[in-house]
Amino acid sequence: MGGTAASAAPMASAPQLSSITAASVTLSSNSIERSPAVAARVAGCRLGCMSSNEQVRHPHFARFLEWKAARDETRGQAELRDELLDGLSGRVLEVGAGSGVNFPHYPASVSELVALEPESYLRSRAEEAAARLPLEIRVVDGLAGELPFEDGSFDAAVVTFVLCSVPDQERALSDLRRVLKPDGELRFYEHVRGHEPARSRWQNAVDRVWPQLMGGCHPNRDTLAAIERSGFGVERCRGFHFPPGALVDPVALRILGVARR
Ligand SMILES: C[S@@+](CC[C@H](N)C(=O)[O-])C[C@H]1O[C@@H](n2cnc3c(N)ncnc32)[C@H](O)[C@@H]1O
Repeated sequence: MGGTAASAAPMASAPQLSSITAASVTLSSNSIERSPAVAARVAGCRLGCMSSNEQVRHPHFARFLEWKAARDETRGQAELRDELLDGLSGRVLEVGAGSGVNFPHYPASVSELVALEPESYLRSRAEEAAARLPLEIRVVDGLAGELPFEDGSFDAAVVTFVLCSVPDQERALSDLRRVLKPDGELRFYEHVRGHEPARSRWQNAVDRVWPQLMGGCHPNRDTLAAIERSGFGVERCRGFHFPPGALVDPVALRILGVARR
């Protein structure tokens, strides 16, 4: 499937959509692992780069996000997060974990969850969420694209509404591939660009102001195509609107699926 630009178009309302395979997708610091290479990357950042806190600092958006995530849980999002994380096992990395809204949805078969979150308010909320759960969860500071982890060190990686916000999707995705084991999987649930001209024009227009208001989020990214371009094989992916029936919301068109390294 790699290299084939798949398009995203709504199939039906969540959560009752059937799964579709990639072949038919029409929408369809507290925690560093220290090999010399990883330590050098981290040390370089300490000397020369901004810390993740300086790069991702959205105190107002962070509080809004926490409120919205909690509200959406009662509107069908909890079931979608369950679906996304179902069957995961072993050592898992979640990037852009926010306030830890996914944490209660991880199955007990996950032996360790490392949750990366660069925004300081959200990270502290994630730490509190982690402390309430029996799962072993390590919340760490860091940025997508600069993951302070060894190559091939995770069985799976999870992103939910993060690839819309990273400054460089290609870099973030290739770094995610790097830290996955050879057969590791990427679970993704993201909002995406529509392929109907009216929708994509609307998303382009909104994108002029949306990132400033919404913590750097871009509503008009073709994230499924980016996942495929980065070398992942998309095993399954389905598309839908959330909330169901939301037609003008520029981030209502969603994809949820699994890609393999
Ligand atoms: C819209 S929120 C999604 C939060 C959570 N994953 C969820 O499902 O609700 C985007 C998250 O990505 C984080 N983020 C933004 N830029 C990032 C980056 N460059 N690297 C890692 N995380 C980033 C934000 O701090 C925020 O927690």
